[in-house]
Amino acid sequence: MEVVVVPVAEAARLAADAVEAVLRTRQRPVLGLATGSSPLALYDELARRHADEGLSFAHARGFLLDEYVGLPPGDPERYRAVVGRELVARTDLPPDAVLGPDGDAADLPAACAAYERAIADAGGVDLQVLGIGTDGHVGFNEPGSSLASRTRVKTLAEQTRRDNARFFGDDPAAVPAHVLTQGLATIRDARHLVLLAAGPAKAAAVAQLVEGPVSARWPATVLQLHPHVTVLVDEAAAARLELAEHYRATWRGKPAWQGL
Ligand code: GLP
Repeated sequence: MEVVVVPVAEAARLAADAVEAVLRTRQRPVLGLATGSSPLALYDELARRHADEGLSFAHARGFLLDEYVGLPPGDPERYRAVVGRELVARTDLPPDAVLGPDGDAADLPAACAAYERAIADAGGVDLQVLGIGTDGHVGFNEPGSSLASRTRVKTLAEQTRRDNARFFGDDPAAVPAHVLTQGLATIRDARHLVLLAAGPAKAAAVAQLVEGPVSARWPATVLQLHPHVTVLVDEAAAARLELAEHYRATWRGKPAWQGL
């Protein structure tokens, strides 16, 4: 696991470099797309590179990490809509090349199984963008999630509904109770995981993710078992890392040719 402590704008540029490398080197690049606030600066940077530098997503495919269950069609907080606004509408990523788990399905378990098949049929995810919840969730894998889980229905923790209330008129009760999320094993199948976190509210979860014992109590800790993880954090989110100085020194001394 590589930990890079940099300001948010620099984290977005580094993550965009990794996405750009995938887009330029893979014939059918597959991106794993997260929502929430954490990837917004990255999507801004990718939109800028598309507009200013001609970076093309035309041959790419995208798979959402997760989706709410029960939001009405057309609701702007559906994750499909969020990614539509933040990335698809601002690049040449074809709208029908982006899939998410179907939160409208009458048979949700069948929809989850179909989603797993779709990811596999696309050849798997080359680069998965991730945020982290204040309780250590990735996707919507709340504490207690099986470390071997695949895409399935989950119930949100009260903490997560409070955290996400800002997108729902500051009313935690308006945040759907149920979601579909890629499982922790699904996420681990991606070839490169790039996790973005900023601000003091993420410091405890980031400390567990990087330095805590692997445990369903802090689901993001399962990333320690993945061979290629990049954690891009600002100073505030890095504040509780015991080995922060070591991570900084490692980054300073890293040969430029290595990339993320
Ligand atoms: C959300 C999403 C996650 C996201 C996390 C953190 O609820 N399901 O994919 O990474 O919680 O969100 P934010 O980046 O807004 O802090």
